[in-house]
Amino acid sequence: MKSVLVTGGAGFIGSNFIRHFLVRNPDVDVINFDKLTYAGNLENLSDVEGNQRYHFIKGDICERGDVELAFRKFKIDTVVHFAAESHVDRSILGSSVFVQTNVVGTNILLDVAKESGIQRFLHISTDEVYGSLGSTGKFTEETPLHPNSPYSASKAGSDLLALAYQHTFGLPVIITRCSNNYGPYQFPEKLIPLMIINALNDKPLPVYGDGLNVRDWLHVVDHCVAIDAVLQAGKPGEVYNIGGNNEWKNIDIVKLILQKVGKPESLIRFVKDRPGHDRRYAIDAAKIKNEIGWTPSYTFERGIEETVQWYLNNRGWWSRVMSGEYQEYYQKQYDEVVRS
Ligand code: NAD
Ligand code: DAU
Repeated sequence: MKSVLVTGGAGFIGSNFIRHFLVRNPDVDVINFDKLTYAGNLENLSDVEGNQRYHFIKGDICERGDVELAFRKFKIDTVVHFAAESHVDRSILGSSVFVQTNVVGTNILLDVAKESGIQRFLHISTDEVYGSLGSTGKFTEETPLHPNSPYSASKAGSDLLALAYQHTFGLPVIITRCSNNYGPYQFPEKLIPLMIINALNDKPLPVYGDGLNVRDWLHVVDHCVAIDAVLQAGKPGEVYNIGGNNEWKNIDIVKLILQKVGKPESLIRFVKDRPGHDRRYAIDAAKIKNEIGWTPSYTFERGIEETVQWYLNNRGWWSRVMSGEYQEYYQKQYDEVVRS
């Protein structure tokens, strides 16, 4: 491995991954290939800009010419594919861009990788492709795919295409499916940063439905360590679930955040539910633990404490990303609380 193309490297997980990977892999060049959509922000990587092994290309995975140019220019031998439209609520407001980026864009990337003859193609996927759980059980790699939102359906589509390229053409594809991430540089449309920032601003905290939906939370750095480990030791054609065995009801997370920020529970507003809202996710991560030796290192207590501190210390970052387009999205998504 000499030259790694990281798609979506200016987003939340991609930027955390690049920072981690450059330190852990001192002989490898990293090429961040990102379209810089509303979710992409080069400020997330300002601390690595001067690193001679870090390169940025503004490009679109849906434009074959952009992708081919990057492969040629940097002699890419490995791909870590994060680039996607990633927010469920936005996929409910409009699904076309999800199909375009997540399915068509992934197909173009797979095709160019096939033509170039690479060593590894790591496709970053999500536990949401498995659908929703009842009150017991966990997702294993054998759980049938049953995506429920336009977002998760587009991710499942891209997973199947990636596996088909492995089966049909022998492209060395590996897939990881992780649970909900949290940590620094997460765009404020997602639950944890949205609740921290609204609490800091004394604004209502919009909880969907009864607040009893369950997510399995993992610190983004633990996810990045797992991806690096799979890149080194994973087997082509395999899927690896990643999760921290850390289930929380949404309402309990919201109350915990209010406690950390020192704000009252009277800020909580129960609002209309997300259509088709998956009830519970939980990951069985036995395969990656047993076969690759990865385990998470963050406790949730430490992770959430550090995350709240990060948002407290980085008001400039979130004020900038929340200006412009975000305001329009917020008004549309949260009209109930905006009007009240
Ligand atoms: P994000 O929305 O923060 O970042 C996505 C990045 O992709 C942005 O930098 C954006 O500019 C870029 N991008 C979008 N369309 C592009 C295109 N056409 N060409 C090039 N770049 C493009 O997303 P994230 O939360 O960091 O998620 C990254 C990946 O991890 C996604 O594939 C997502 O499905 C998966 N995932 C996310 C989570 C989570 O909790 N956030 C959990 C499991 C898996
Ligand atoms: O499970 C992995 C997935 O986690 C990733 O594939 C997605 O990219 C990522 O966005 C995330 O999806 P979720 O829909 O689970 O995350 P989100 O932060 O949007 O919501 C978490 C839970 O909180 C969910 O049950 C909906 C609820 N919620 C969310 C928001 C934004 C609220 O109650 N109020 C809100 O305002």
